[in-house]
Amino acid sequence: MNREEILEKTAEFAFSSCSSFDPGHDKDHLLRVKRLSLEIASSYFCDTFLVEMLAYLHDVEDDKFESHSKVGDFLSHLDIEEEIKTKILSLLPFMSFHKYPTLPRDFPIEGKIVVDADRLDALGAVGVARAFSYGGSKGRKMYGASDSTLAHFEEKLLHLDQYLHLDASKEMAKERMDYLKSFYARFKEEIHDGN
Ligand code: ADP
Ligand code: NI
Repeated sequence: MNREEILEKTAEFAFSSCSSFDPGHDKDHLLRVKRLSLEIASSYFCDTFLVEMLAYLHDVEDDKFESHSKVGDFLSHLDIEEEIKTKILSLLPFMSFHKYPTLPRDFPIEGKIVVDADRLDALGAVGVARAFSYGGSKGRKMYGASDSTLAHFEEKLLHLDQYLHLDASKEMAKERMDYLKSFYARFKEEIHDGN
């Protein structure tokens, strides 16, 4: 199997694994993370095959969605070097923000790229839509409760630019952060701060 075919198979597997997730974590999220990852990757010397594999697989084992260990199984049937399989499996646990908000300093560039791309997709207009999609899927209030989507803006999204690792991602985050902040300010204004 050539690399193109492996990526195609991996995409297919990842798309079917997220078919029951909310619209903010669907196939299109994976495609956006892949595109953003490759855009960041173009500024660095790195293995773009590994970047693309991680982008597809980064949410498969997320325990937010109570999925079971499936990636190891999937990779074991794939015709690629053991070394790459081991590397993918060792990097994937770090893709989760709530488990690892910051990465080890010597974390491989390919992993940093995908983590940053995933965070960029939580910012900007898409980030706003994803937050309300996720909150809605959990039956949460938009605002006015400690687990509301607006509380998630305050706790995480409005500070997410401080949790990016690479200069290229930080540059790409600027406009998205500005948009997120102005959305937040406008939203607060329209709800009269909850009163
Ligand atoms: P991570 O696992 O690193 O948080 P994901 O891609 O799995 O990354 O999910 C992040 C997305 O889910 C973001 O768009 C984020 O806004 C949304 N999200 C996560 N937790 C909440 C929450 N409590 N309320 C609203 N949105 C949330
Ligand atoms: Ni993600």
